[in-house]
Amino acid sequence: MISITDLDSRVKQRLQESPLPWDERMRRCAPSESYLQTIVSNDQAYYLYLNALVADTCPRTVLELGTCQGGSALFMLLALPAAGKLISCDLGQHQPVYLEPFRSDSRLTLMIGDTRDPGLYKEIPSGSVDLLFIDTDHTCAQVTKEWELSRRLMGPGGIVAMDDIHMNDMGLFWNALPNDKVDAGHRFHHTGFGIFAA
Ligand SMILES: C[S@@+](CC[C@H](N)C(=O)[O-])C[C@H]1O[C@@H](n2cnc3c(N)ncnc32)[C@H](O)[C@@H]1O
Repeated sequence: MISITDLDSRVKQRLQESPLPWDERMRRCAPSESYLQTIVSNDQAYYLYLNALVADTCPRTVLELGTCQGGSALFMLLALPAAGKLISCDLGQHQPVYLEPFRSDSRLTLMIGDTRDPGLYKEIPSGSVDLLFIDTDHTCAQVTKEWELSRRLMGPGGIVAMDDIHMNDMGLFWNALPNDKVDAGHRFHHTGFGIFAA
């Protein structure tokens, strides 16, 4: 059984050692490396944490709830193994502009739908998700529903990352969670960020 504290330490070690990921395809949406640094320094350091988490755990399937403009998906995709899959879901109100250069990447699937709808998950086999990233409306009620619907999808040793664990009433969910977990505090996002063992 993986220790979440050990995993978090390894990820942070990687963050110290690895340079900012860069991919030529990002030039269309991020004209230069310095622009990318702006994205990350603009309170989005959890993008780098997710990138290092994927690099460390080499997940076969990543499920993201909350695509928005695709920033977090982009950074996970950059570290995803060639045989990996990233499924990202959203209501579809925003254009995932950061993912435009990756639209033909066979590892990426964008799904439009409501994460509170059980039907959204029906094509995803039970036990197949190695990494779940939850980042939708940041309320205890919604994250509780999302976890109720998605936990059966998690494979053995699966990891869940959550953004904004200290926003709104999200602490009610986080504090009640009995799982092995690490609260990364406010270092990666001012609204909090954490990981737990599924
Ligand atoms: C904070 S943004 C996601 C940011 C993205 N993960 C990132 O870090 O770049 C939250 C997204 O969740 C989506 N969302 C909120 N409620 C949702 C729901 N019930 N079903 C699907 N998506 C939802 C919103 O449309 C929004 O795009």
